[in-house]
Amino acid sequence: MAAPTGLIAGNWKMNLFHAEALQLGTDLAERMDLWGRPPVDYLICPPLTLCGQMAAFLAPTPFKVGAQDVSPLKNGPHTGDVSAEHLADLGMAACIVGHSERRRDHKEDDALVRAKAEALHRVNLTSIICIGETEAERDAGKTIEVVTRQLQVSVPETSHSANTVVAYEPVWAIGTGRTATVEQIEEVHNHIRQMLYDRMDFDGYAIRILYGGSVTAANARDILFAKNVNGALVGGASLKAETFWPIIEAAGAVAARNLREAQQA
Ligand code: PGA
Repeated sequence: MAAPTGLIAGNWKMNLFHAEALQLGTDLAERMDLWGRPPVDYLICPPLTLCGQMAAFLAPTPFKVGAQDVSPLKNGPHTGDVSAEHLADLGMAACIVGHSERRRDHKEDDALVRAKAEALHRVNLTSIICIGETEAERDAGKTIEVVTRQLQVSVPETSHSANTVVAYEPVWAIGTGRTATVEQIEEVHNHIRQMLYDRMDFDGYAIRILYGGSVTAANARDILFAKNVNGALVGGASLKAETFWPIIEAAGAVAARNLREAQQA
């Protein structure tokens, strides 16, 4: 079965203001004009304050824009919350849910993450569902157990390959400069793939599984070439074109390999 199209997603977190964001968008578009467009899918997830403007600005480019969080509730008396309907109205294509920083800062649990993903699916937006173990859980030998539970509960029945992306982000690797080894990544990604297949049959093969956690220009190739890795969710390195573009190029090299393999099959 052909590998799913790669996805490179930038998670800006709570960073950048209007002028910097427009400059970054311009720099990325320029690189694409100069060096071509690797055949993968592209997403950036800016802070909500920039989402509408970036969606309009990047509309002529292959970059789609997503949000970083959403309320599970429908529009109504929920001061300060933003619904999936609002995100659709803003021109968003996707939204990250269950990022470990939200699980930590806002005590989000798997059931809430599932409700958020369902809300997104209700309006045909893609949910990027984040899972991953803490350092203590890895040290205790509980990585697979934790990831299994998170995947089972966080991924709703409404999920399929066209509206769901799973991002494996070991918490200890996020923003720390420590990256999981290719062996560690493959072990977890293979397990996630098997679980998705068990649950969704062949469509489980088509769901993109991204790796996230200190992905940089230096390690992107090794990570992206790993088995069952279909792209990356990139934090710090997505804030500058110089550091983000080489990750896109590495994804392009993987796409070329996949094409060769498909032609030989
Ligand atoms: P990082 O963040 O690349 O800065 O480690 C990744 C993420 O949190 O999505």
